Amino acid sequence: MTVQRILLAGATGAVGSELLRLLRGRDHFVRTLSRTEGNAAGIRGLASEVVVADAAEPGAVTGALDGVDAVVSCLGANVSMTLRERRSYYDVDVVANTHLLEAAKRAGVKRFVYLSAHPGPGYAHTRYLAAHLQMEERIRASGLSFSFVRPTGVYSALNDMIAMARAGVGAVPGDGLARTNPVHPADVAEALAEVLAGGPDVVPVGGPDVMTRDEVMRLAFDAVGKKGLIVHVPAGVLRSTSVLLEGIHPRLSDLLEFVAAVMTSDSLAPARGTRPLRAWFEALAGAPASPRRSEG
Ligand SMILES: NC(=O)c1ccc[n+]([C@@H]2O[C@H](COP(=O)([O-])OP(=O)(O)OC[C@H]3O[C@@H](n4cnc5c(N)ncnc54)[C@H](OP(=O)(O)O)[C@@H]3O)[C@@H](O)[C@H]2O)c1
Repeated sequence: MTVQRILLAGATGAVGSELLRLLRGRDHFVRTLSRTEGNAAGIRGLASEVVVADAAEPGAVTGALDGVDAVVSCLGANVSMTLRERRSYYDVDVVANTHLLEAAKRAGVKRFVYLSAHPGPGYAHTRYLAAHLQMEERIRASGLSFSFVRPTGVYSALNDMIAMARAGVGAVPGDGLARTNPVHPADVAEALAEVLAGGPDVVPVGGPDVMTRDEVMRLAFDAVGKKGLIVHVPAGVLRSTSVLLEGIHPRLSDLLEFVAAVMTSDSLAPARGTRPLRAWFEALAGAPASPRRSEG
């Protein structure tokens, strides 16, 4: 199968922006999708075409997939503790990606590559993970050719640890002994590019170093040059806060439920990433703190 023209959803995100650079470097035609003009501003010079639409709104992506060979979706509600984007992971990730899937079928697109998440047994039941797995099922049932790329944690989701390290106190849910091998967003982008035209149904993606959660926090302290103090927060506190937030801020409620589970269970996938977390943290620690660009 030849894939030259691509609709890339989530092209401004941590993983999507790496993939956009990679695909444009290989001369692919890449049409991107962003919720607002402001969010899209940073990629206008790089994308071949930009569509501005909130894919979670009915009818918003009609026509956006005309003339493309494949969809690559790195679209998902943000996984940071920001208050922006109240909608639950189901209401963004499943609803918006289902709209893309339906529009792809109508436009005769043959292939759907979806950035999902690695479902470790200790946290696959959470609403955040369940949304990804439910979307996978819908794509599987669609009749389109597909691949799902499933990373563990992406380094960008650990950025708050540098802020904690600078403050000298790192809050780590649970006893800090659960293990993980998070992965660089560029390594995830390479895994997505590799299955653009075909490949395994499921591609698990982990990073090069297996660490406990306490070791990740200590790496952040090292990067800012502080000894620091680790405070273990009982996972039950996060679970209770998640319940309290259910009707008030659905996404944060989902996220806290997920964080309580993933930080206290092993999250390990085959190591295909090569870029180390130490270098990511050191680059972040050396850079001046900047406000977040994206809404949600
Ligand atoms: N970060 C992690 O540790 C991690 C680990 C495993 C899996 N994942 C999954 O990988 C995916 C991408 O993660 P990421 O960290 O790269 O996310 P991110 O940096 O928060 O980027 C999310 C992207 O989705 C787009 N988006 C969100 N809602 C949208 C909507 N309603 N309509 C159109 N576009 C929308 C955003 O576009 P604009 O801002 O341009 O509007 C942005 O480009 C998510 O599904 C996430 O759950 C992440």
